Parts: sequence; C-alpha cells; structure tokens
Amino acid sequence: MYAFHRGRRLRSSRTMRNLVRETRLSNEDLIQPYFVVESDPGLRREIPSMPGQFQLGLDELMIEVGGAVDAGLKALILFGVPRHKDPEGSQAGADDGIVQQAIRRIKDNWPEVMVVADTCLCEYTSHGHCGLVTPQGEIENDSTLELLAAAAVSQARAGADIIAPSDMMDGRVAAIRTALDKAGFQNTPIMSYAVKYASSFYGPFRDAAEGAPRFGNRKTYQMDPANAREGLREAAADIDEGADIIMVKPGLPYLDIIRQVRDSFDVPVGAYQVSGEYSQIKAAAMNGWIDETAVALESLIGLKRAGADLILTYFAQDLLEAGHF
Ligand code: PBG
Repeated sequence: MYAFHRGRRLRSSRTMRNLVRETRLSNEDLIQPYFVVESDPGLRREIPSMPGQFQLGLDELMIEVGGAVDAGLKALILFGVPRHKDPEGSQAGADDGIVQQAIRRIKDNWPEVMVVADTCLCEYTSHGHCGLVTPQGEIENDSTLELLAAAAVSQARAGADIIAPSDMMDGRVAAIRTALDKAGFQNTPIMSYAVKYASSFYGPFRDAAEGAPRFGNRKTYQMDPANAREGLREAAADIDEGADIIMVKPGLPYLDIIRQVRDSFDVPVGAYQVSGEYSQIKAAAMNGWIDETAVALESLIGLKRAGADLILTYFAQDLLEAGHF
C-alpha cells in the first residue's frame, strides 16, 4: 500500500494527457445554427444580443456557409425569418418559403453538408407562438400537428437531411413521421427537441429569429425547468413515436438531464447550447473577464462528457475557422 494516490502522474505532459483523455470534441460533432432572412438577399445584420452572429439574406448565407464548409463544418441548422407572418404561420410550409429556398441552394452547392431544418411555427406566426391560438388565447395542440407535418414535408421536399421539430406539441413526432412516410421520405430522420425547457436562456434567439410570443409565454407547452423525470417521459414518448435522435435544450444548465437521457435510452442524444449560453460567454469575454475560446471549448466538452453525441452551438463556425479541431 502506498501512502497516497498520485493522480498527477497522468497529467505530466500534453502527450500523456491526450493519451488518457476520456472525451473528445470534433468538428463532426457540431451543428452551426444560421438565421436566414427573406426580406433582402444581401442582408448581413449583426444580432445585437448575439455578437458575432448574423441575420443573413440568402446570398450572404451562401457566402457564410461556404467559409464554414471550407473550415470543416459538416452540419448546420436553419431558422427562417419570413417577410410575411400570419396567425397560421403559413410560410413555415411554403415550398418557396425562405428556409426551403435556403435548403435547396445549400444542397445544390454542398450536397455532402448535413442540413437540419428546425420545424416550428413561432418564427412564422404573427402572434409568435409555436402553435395555433384559440380566440381564448390558448395554444391548440391537435390542430397544430397538421401544419407542423406539412412544414416538415415541405422542408424534406426542399432537400432537408434531418427534420427537427422544436414546437413541443404532443404527438408531433408521430404526425410528422406519418406525413414524411406518406410523402415518400421514409429515410429522412427526425431529431426531436424532446426535452425542451421553458427557458429564459432563449432570449437572444428571439431577437435573432424575431419569434418572441406577442402575449403570454411558452410554459403551457415547454417544460418546467424544475423537472427531470418528466424529461425522461418526453424522451420516451418521442422515441415511441419514431424520433431517431433526441435533443435536450438548453445545454449547460441541464447536464444532469443529458446524462439521465443518455443512460436511459440507446438513441443518439443531441444537446443545444442555446443563444443565452452563447451570449453570456461572449459578453464576459468582450469585457476581458474570461477567455472566450477556452470557456466555449470547456462548455462543449462538458456537454459531451454529460453524454451528448452531437451539439448545436453558435461557436461551431468560429472554432472551426480558428483551426481548433
Ligand atoms: C423555436 C426555437 C427556439 C429555439 C430553437 N427553436 C425558441 C423558443 O422555443 O422560444 C431557441 C434556440 C436558442 O435560444 O438558441 N421554437
């Protein structure tokens, strides 16, 4: 018996540390979100609450994606900001909608890039909710499913590789799966935002996607941050309904949820490092209080260590372009 354990033996050099490293981060794990705006193809407007992230017109999006792909980006997710919004969010399912156009152009230029389509109504509805609203101001579940399914089919028709429903209506994975299969897209996977919390960390995103609810909040459909067991039920339901990949969102405040979901199910698990997580790091770094890259990488490795197989992060492109992988 020795007197004490010498953990430092395996930390003595970079090579030694790399040899025993348990978790690795690679460009192949990361999905970069982009906000594509319909109003002006040449638009490039920095999002005030997300420094370094932009609302992009179609032409600018192509330039941005081109740079990211050259740097090693393998996957991206698109959010649309349409010119016209209405109570039904009809642009979400329009074949010439802004996201559908963007998907087609990206797949034409870079067929190998994995294009994920966020499927939701909130960016497209005039009231900013993720579902249809009754005259009493309630968010209607079942009548919304048809619209979500139509949006998903239209995104798949445009060439989306993965459909990612983020609305949190009950039954939407089943509705989308059925509609995709009927339209001939049996091979298009669904990555559901299965465990999505009603989080204040989405604040900056709502500026970026211009999808803040005009009244009330999302607490009747997104989850209570206090609940973990409920998250497992949500994940189980989505897997039952046909989800191929499930996602936990936000990321860092919910590492315990990622771990429990990872241990409870055998499907791939995604984590979304959301806008507020990004903006916190950016703001502190811009003040000189923390090292942006180091903190971003530490947060991402934390998400992987907790059990995430893939990560949606606004840092993806920057890290790649800076040569971090
Ligand atoms: C749409 C959607 C949201 C996010 C992703 N998809 C906003 C919301 O639910 O309010 C948030 C992403 C982020 O904050 O980075 N429903």
